Amino acid sequence: MSSRIPGFYKLDPDARLDALASTGLVAPETTAAFREPGLSIADANVMVENVISTFSLPNAVAVNFLIDGRELAVPMVVEEPSVVAACTNMAKLARAGGGFTADSDAGVMIGQVQVVDVTDPVATASALESRLDELAAIASEVHPRLHEYGGGFRGLEVRVLRYEEPGEKPEDMVVLHFFLDCADAMGANMVNTIAETLAPHVESITGHTVGLRILSNLADRRLARARVAIPVSAFGPDGACVADAIASAWRFAWADPYRAATHNKGVMNGIDAVCLATGNDWRAVEAGVHAFASRDGQYRPVTRWRVDGDVLHGSIEVPLQVGTIGGPIRVHPRVQHNLALLGVSGARELAGVMASVGLAQNLGALKALATEGIQAGHMRMHARTVAAAAGAEPHEVAKICARLCRERDYSVERARQLVRELRDA
Ligand code: MEV
Repeated sequence: MSSRIPGFYKLDPDARLDALASTGLVAPETTAAFREPGLSIADANVMVENVISTFSLPNAVAVNFLIDGRELAVPMVVEEPSVVAACTNMAKLARAGGGFTADSDAGVMIGQVQVVDVTDPVATASALESRLDELAAIASEVHPRLHEYGGGFRGLEVRVLRYEEPGEKPEDMVVLHFFLDCADAMGANMVNTIAETLAPHVESITGHTVGLRILSNLADRRLARARVAIPVSAFGPDGACVADAIASAWRFAWADPYRAATHNKGVMNGIDAVCLATGNDWRAVEAGVHAFASRDGQYRPVTRWRVDGDVLHGSIEVPLQVGTIGGPIRVHPRVQHNLALLGVSGARELAGVMASVGLAQNLGALKALATEGIQAGHMRMHARTVAAAAGAEPHEVAKICARLCRERDYSVERARQLVRELRDA
């Protein structure tokens, strides 16, 4: 079984499903399910409020992934051209070095209970510290069955914080942090329930008012990592130069937050697309990743690239608060189909896949930027959208795109002319 499907991109969507089924990686029931309608209006209506319709996005698949020796076809939901193509191509390139290796921490989320109007923060903190066992016992009772799934309550700590913005009145606060291993769930609801359960006990222990009680999206106890080592020869005859240029592009991002923001945006192109496909809260993941990227006081790239001898080494470390159960996963049929297509065992494996996809995506962007520039690939994909907007039939699109790219004229008007010429020829 291999996720290498040469020419996958040239097939039509129906044939792509057949090709996926023929690899043996995806069960025929799963590929059949993708031919059925997606989210119904009735299901949408129970997901959020004030529903009037549903909204579709392309559901694509990045083939070629080899992660920890496992062949994977990765579902991606994204509206931006070139993202899936870049990911697929880089996954193919990574195979020259044996693919990706990935690992991730247990699903530990952080909850916060904030104590406000604190007059003596040290005394308030020590009052809480002396009762942590009691608070842990209360918290452990909230989700008593979580340990059956490999999760459970993992402890508490007390933090003293001070608001001291120049020119404003300073304010002390004490914050109780607790840690909950949410196993295969993202866990927001479980964490928030514990935070609210602890709040009255925190008030009675401290004699002060509790302010916020909510999870933290800086999920830095739930990190995922991926690595890749690609021989520079895999980048072609001038591979050593390309690899050096990729490492240099990374150093630019390390030195400059303006560049790091764009660098990390490219990483998130991949991670968000897998989040969407698998029903995960990509806003939570975005918030966590960017906060984590600033942990040393400057916003930095979440990946690293360096050349060592004849090998380009890449790695990524990001917090990934993602799940394979709960939330929209239960309701949205495409989410279930995408998870079945991906075939991961649980949230930790999913996080490892996402980290690998983010690394592949970043490699694709840096390689393009360091060589032909990003626009050539983007414009090739853009030409497809323009051709379709000009009314080209699927069998006409390739010819129209080739002309638009050659002429470097991507106007719908020119595409319409070309469609007419093609049909009159
Ligand atoms: C575009 O969506 C993402 C890039 O800008 C990322 C990058 O510059 O590294 C190409």
